[in-house]
Amino acid sequence: MPVIAIDGPSGAGKSSVSKGIALRGGWGYLDTGALYRGLTWLSLQEGVTSPEEVAKLVQIGKLNFNLDASAPKLTAKYPLEQQGITDLSEVIREELITNVVSGISAIPQVRAELLLLQRELIQKSINEFGGAVVEGRDIGTTVWPDAELKIYLTADVEARAIRRQAQLSELSEISAVSVADSLAKRDAIDSMRAASPLKQSEDQIVLDATYLNLEETIHALWNLIEERTVNG
Ligand code: DC
Repeated sequence: MPVIAIDGPSGAGKSSVSKGIALRGGWGYLDTGALYRGLTWLSLQEGVTSPEEVAKLVQIGKLNFNLDASAPKLTAKYPLEQQGITDLSEVIREELITNVVSGISAIPQVRAELLLLQRELIQKSINEFGGAVVEGRDIGTTVWPDAELKIYLTADVEARAIRRQAQLSELSEISAVSVADSLAKRDAIDSMRAASPLKQSEDQIVLDATYLNLEETIHALWNLIEERTVNG
């Protein structure tokens, strides 16, 4: 199965499901949201705001994702004027980045630049692992429209908020209601932007995980992969 595209709103469990499927199939894993987050981090560090300059940071900062589902890692060349590579995997999860990233990812120049990097990384994953499980918002619609299997993974906003809050609760006292509010805001920005918005397409299979746990969701998706492999 060369490319499996997993799109859907924030907090539906795309990362855990995608990693689980990639590990099971022995394929590479690409978290495209991490690239948008990494670019957001770089632009905040550098104080860069113009669309052209933010987009240029993709190449200048040598953003990279290691494709390893068992130890996924986002790196950049930082500080920019030095040669060292910095692991950004943790800093990109900070609340500040989460609050700013939807705005950065609505910039067309940013999307055009990251489109090239995403396609390069998917091709690399196919060459090295025979396939890629790619999660994002527009993988099946824009980044890799020829994906062999396209999934739209979703869940009710309340269910997504409860899961997200459980992940965050070690760090903060944030309530499920305010998590739901911030998820709904991000969904709205991601769905309403002009450039390559989050939207369902007819060739996607909708997987609603509102009442499924992680294991059940992976199981359901794996069944779909097997059906595809058998039936072509
Ligand atoms: O999946 P995530 O929450 O880490 O993604 C962070 C942001 O990046 C999200 O608000 C939308 C944006 N994004 C995007 O626009 N297109 C993608 N393919 C992946 C993420």
